[in-house]
Amino acid sequence: MIGAAAVSVPGKTILFGEHAAVYGHPALVTALDHRMTVTVTASSPGNGAIHLDMPGCGAARSFAPDEAARIAAYRTAVWARAFADGDGSSFRPVDIPGELAVLATLTSCVGLSAARRDVHVRVESAIPTGSGFGSSAALAVGVTAACHLAFGRSLPVDDIAEAALRIERHQHGSPSGVDVQAVLRGGVLWCRREPLGLAHEEVGAAAGRLGAFRLFHSGSPAESTGEMVAAVRRLRDEDPARVEGAFAAIEAAAREGRAALLSGDDAALVAIVRRAEAALEALDVVHSDVRAAIRAIEAEGGAAKISGAGGRSGAGAGLVLVVHPDPGWHRRFAPPAGWIAHGVGLGAQGLREEIAA
Ligand code: MEV
Repeated sequence: MIGAAAVSVPGKTILFGEHAAVYGHPALVTALDHRMTVTVTASSPGNGAIHLDMPGCGAARSFAPDEAARIAAYRTAVWARAFADGDGSSFRPVDIPGELAVLATLTSCVGLSAARRDVHVRVESAIPTGSGFGSSAALAVGVTAACHLAFGRSLPVDDIAEAALRIERHQHGSPSGVDVQAVLRGGVLWCRREPLGLAHEEVGAAAGRLGAFRLFHSGSPAESTGEMVAAVRRLRDEDPARVEGAFAAIEAAAREGRAALLSGDDAALVAIVRRAEAALEALDVVHSDVRAAIRAIEAEGGAAKISGAGGRSGAGAGLVLVVHPDPGWHRRFAPPAGWIAHGVGLGAQGLREEIAA
């Protein structure tokens, strides 16, 4: 072993602004304190192989340098064909367990075989996958940061964000970058795309009010984030007025939601969350069973919205946020069938260096 590093990265939830963020509207995001730990060790002599161990997603295998290079070339071509030359409709996300980690390792460990080294990457995660909790962003950030640290290079946070966003594109197609910012920086962030990239502003004062949101996993959607973003893009082509109207409502909810959190107005949050959810339903990103469950919560005086890309089919729409003006109501609330309460802290610390075992 010639170098080792470990980092941990939180998950994320989008309080307000999903989907609209892809088109430059602001989003209010926060980090979730269920973490992914990435440990990277470099060994010598080697030939540039990547040894991947991801208990939990069934990826424990080695990639020879030419295989890893082939994966990277293929994925780069898929992305370029879809987004540099096309309208995104031909995009296909990575589908082999561990592929995203291989891409992140390869881009972070340039010159591995020339240096006659191998790299071992272990990923242990408490973040649910494919359900709006930010696991791909955490993976992209964690592997990028741990690889650089293991090779004795420290990468500025802005450079980690840029590198991780390039990796996340292979999973999400054209991500806004808000997921990467949330898991990297932690806390509560107001993110908005500007000409030179995604600007972020810490909204630390909102952190004290995050207890207003209760989190539930409504079941994994069949569609990936990339597919849901592509579905919204198609809807926008077909019916621009409907989609632009929904984006405007999502932006208004994000602004009002931020103000309500800053002023501690939990009662106002209920109406704001309802409006955000209605706009997301207008985008057709909320599974019908989840819509029905949310109507029942509204009938009891509360509100709920999906968080993240959502989903139309499969077990559910992933992460759902629930608010109610009466804190006691949450104790009495019996979650709908298939929903699992996700009792994790919001406003968590972002990327953190850990002690490599
Ligand atoms: C995914 O977590 C959130 C989306 O807004 C996509 C993005 O912002 O990249 C649906």
